[in-house]
Amino acid sequence: MFLHTCPFFFCDYIKDMPKITYIEDNGSSHTKEIANGLSVMEGAVQNDIPGIDADCGGGMACATCHVYIKEDWWEKLQTKADGEEDMLDMAYEPNKFSRLSCQVIVSDELDGLVVSIPSKQG
Ligand code: FES
Repeated sequence: MFLHTCPFFFCDYIKDMPKITYIEDNGSSHTKEIANGLSVMEGAVQNDIPGIDADCGGGMACATCHVYIKEDWWEKLQTKADGEEDMLDMAYEPNKFSRLSCQVIVSDELDGLVVSIPSKQG
């Protein structure tokens, strides 16, 4: 039996997109729905979030997508990619909650994720 009530096949896809909150250094907050499978960086670029330039397009070669992950989300993230730590050493003021947002892939489990953008990138 067909139980789907939406006349458009993509309704569930749109409804279920995880929300990611980007916080600029000046405190401005932007909560955006980002499709599963995109990176947190791609979500920022598509939504014109200031401070995530992503100069290398996600190739893990620039660190201009550096973000700080809100502490209570840290354990829920995928482990760092090979070489990510080395690139983070080149980022502006990295700390133990630093990630390259191009290496964090959005999924339902990350619905509500909060990331902060370093001041030099803002
Ligand atoms: S976009 Fe260049 S390292 Fe992430």
